[in-house]
Amino acid sequence: MTLLELENRQSLIVNTLRARRHKSVRPRRLRTTAALRAMVRETELNARDFIYPLFVRHGTGRSEIRSMPGVYQLSVAESVQEAESAARSGVNAVILFGIPKEKDPIGLENFSEDGIVQQAIRAIKKEIPEMVVVTDVCLCEYTDHGHCGILNTSEHYHTGLPEGYVLNDPTLDVLAKVAISHAECGADIVAPSGMMDGMVSAIRDGLDFAGYENLPILSYAVKYASSFYGPFRDAAEGAPKFGDRKSHQMDPANVREALREAALDVEEGADMLMVKPALAYLDVIRVVKDAFPEMPMAAYNVSGEYSMIKAAAANGWVDEEKVTLETLTAIKRAGADLIITYHAVDAAKWLK
Ligand code: PBG
Repeated sequence: MTLLELENRQSLIVNTLRARRHKSVRPRRLRTTAALRAMVRETELNARDFIYPLFVRHGTGRSEIRSMPGVYQLSVAESVQEAESAARSGVNAVILFGIPKEKDPIGLENFSEDGIVQQAIRAIKKEIPEMVVVTDVCLCEYTDHGHCGILNTSEHYHTGLPEGYVLNDPTLDVLAKVAISHAECGADIVAPSGMMDGMVSAIRDGLDFAGYENLPILSYAVKYASSFYGPFRDAAEGAPKFGDRKSHQMDPANVREALREAALDVEEGADMLMVKPALAYLDVIRVVKDAFPEMPMAAYNVSGEYSMIKAAAANGWVDEEKVTLETLTAIKRAGADLIITYHAVDAAKWLK
């Protein structure tokens, strides 16, 4: 082949390839400027999407949680302050967790008129009436054994079950009492997190009977037995004293089961659904949202997910602001309408 022939042949190849290229289709056109990118953005985070968790304890002042930098156990007065700072940044919902003065096998403070959460609900609603106060309804922070329900003991009549097993139906009665007690203090939404079968209908019946038929239930419908709750158990002092939560929380390997859990809660009258944790479960959020597009969906960006970002950021390995906003955007893109996140106030400020 002569040099000329070779050149002709090469240019033929190049021209053929060029002609084949879809010159008319260039996705990069819409990425050329920030203004264009903003016009075609599909997912937009908003401070209104966030629910900010608060840990309330007896006593005065606040104490930082070792495994969750920037998150505190708060006195009632401090929880009002924290809710006020959330409101100022544009976050309009908080979720309350209580650390009781004393723990016992049933968790009596959980439905006591002077319980710590009861005090905090009243105080926050008094100072910031427009703040949406959500309450976590579970037993684990209140029981001396740290489990999410009443345990089977030798005195119990539940002979077919092992000692220490979390009894489902006796627990439902307590959950209904707790929800009613929160409602009486002015809670706006109750959020059962214990993964007991029938918890939504038990709470719905209790609330309706007590005259709170308009109080919505945000069900932790799809909650996994996750190791990402580690830091939370420091924060809420609710680690199980023995065993684990696998007899009621879901196996991380399952997604079809999530649809079954969600369907049951919808049938029982849940007003909103939740998937928890969020980040390792984005596929679950998507599947549940697609199956129940009519249901408002929350995702819980849990303690371990928060602390991982904090730890990496403290080492200078990631940019906290950027990684957090990217994470929250991903959770929303996956299908969550609402996100429970310890980053709520920071993220709201960064979005401004
Ligand atoms: C149970 C409850 C837990 C969390 C929220 N509600 C802990 C658990 O199930 O063990 C975890 C939240 C987090 O890790 O941020 N009341």
